[in-house]
Amino acid sequence: MNFNFYTHCDIAFGKGSSAEIPGMIERHGMKNVMVIYDQGVKAAGIADKVLEKVKEANVNITVYDKVLPNPANDQVEEAALIAKEAKINGFVAVGGGSSIDFAKAVNILMTNPGPIGRYGGIGNVVNDVYPLIAIPTTAGTSSEITNVVALIDNQAVCKYVIIDNKITATGVIADPEFTKTMPASVTAATGMDAITHAVESYISNMASPLTEYNSLKALQIFYRNLPKAVEDGSDMEAREQMMLGCIIVGFAFSNANLGLVHGIAHTLSAHFGLSHGMANATVLPYVMEFNAESCPEKMVELAKAIKLPLTGDLNKDKYLFAKEMKRLSNKIGIRTLSEQGVDIKDLDMLAEDVLKEPVLNFNPRQNITKEQIMEILHKAF
Ligand SMILES: NC(=O)c1ccc[n+]([C@@H]2O[C@H](COP(=O)([O-])OP(=O)(O)OC[C@H]3O[C@@H](n4cnc5c(N)ncnc54)[C@H](O)[C@@H]3O)[C@@H](O)[C@H]2O)c1
Ligand SMILES: [Zn+2]
Repeated sequence: MNFNFYTHCDIAFGKGSSAEIPGMIERHGMKNVMVIYDQGVKAAGIADKVLEKVKEANVNITVYDKVLPNPANDQVEEAALIAKEAKINGFVAVGGGSSIDFAKAVNILMTNPGPIGRYGGIGNVVNDVYPLIAIPTTAGTSSEITNVVALIDNQAVCKYVIIDNKITATGVIADPEFTKTMPASVTAATGMDAITHAVESYISNMASPLTEYNSLKALQIFYRNLPKAVEDGSDMEAREQMMLGCIIVGFAFSNANLGLVHGIAHTLSAHFGLSHGMANATVLPYVMEFNAESCPEKMVELAKAIKLPLTGDLNKDKYLFAKEMKRLSNKIGIRTLSEQGVDIKDLDMLAEDVLKEPVLNFNPRQNITKEQIMEILHKAF
């Protein structure tokens, strides 16, 4: 058995862990700090709470509060200019995956020449970056743990990823209190993204025993707690478990990568601005039906992990998990592609673009055709 597994992080987890922000800033040697978030996190009162804590560290603070969902290249470059002007040498990102990814991308440009798009792919960042403390407010993308940034390239109209161990956050404050204000629809969408990470990393052709262990454990946690967190946003036990699952699965997909569900979701977000989690959730059951041909035993293991009753017939059992994902999605309000504003005449163009997604290389079923993607998109329509 051979595998590589990278991990690198200083994590403070649990209710009240935000009290550790000043200590972590000092420990990581930051002096001129850029605090990055978006307007939703500001409106929820979280940004102000974090800023109060950052101030206790006695550092110079520059705020960048204009992050948009599905962040794009041009905005990253604009923020990097501001950061360079302010001689920033450390970042605090508070928010969902958009704000954390945004901060990671700006950080790359502090010590590496632009434009940011040149770092797309795996291992292309040349120089080390500054310390970054990630404070997630969704559960979620696991961006606080991963070596990944996902950005929109407005010119090429695609979402591409930068994957590099150098860009991983150096510190994480995972305080479930910060996820309490997520509306039910955001809880559902981001939670289904987390489930998709568990599933796609588990069946990925890069999976190793260590990533598989994390993927299955995280899946069990998400499956048990996501419906509770959607139903009652103040259920702090469920919120805490969701946040824990995101850390567990972040280690898995940083090392095992993802697959076709993410390839489709990236294309949908790039063309139509669909929320990442909702886009994943919409196509997840149909991609799993499709993948079941190539990894039937693993599909049964996923069903077993969440204790679905098996028939003992592999040909039937390999579809149980996909069917259950459909039921769960309906229960928590996941929308179809048409309900998210996609037009049926766009499916052809979308399928064409999905084929260009590098993440397809890690999907268990290979040699995917445009017709097969069209079929998945029609089912999700
Ligand atoms: N780096 C990675 O490993 C990785 C993995 C998966 C996804 N992503 C990327 O992350 C982005 C999506 O991130 P996301 O799903 O966390 O959503 P997000 O960061 O875009 O946030 C979604 C919305 O929810 C609001 N919000 C967030 N937390 C809130 C809270 N606690 N209370 C109230 N409102 C809150 C935000 O203001 C925003 O309006 C996408 O760009 C996706 O591609 C990155
Ligand atoms: Zn995702």
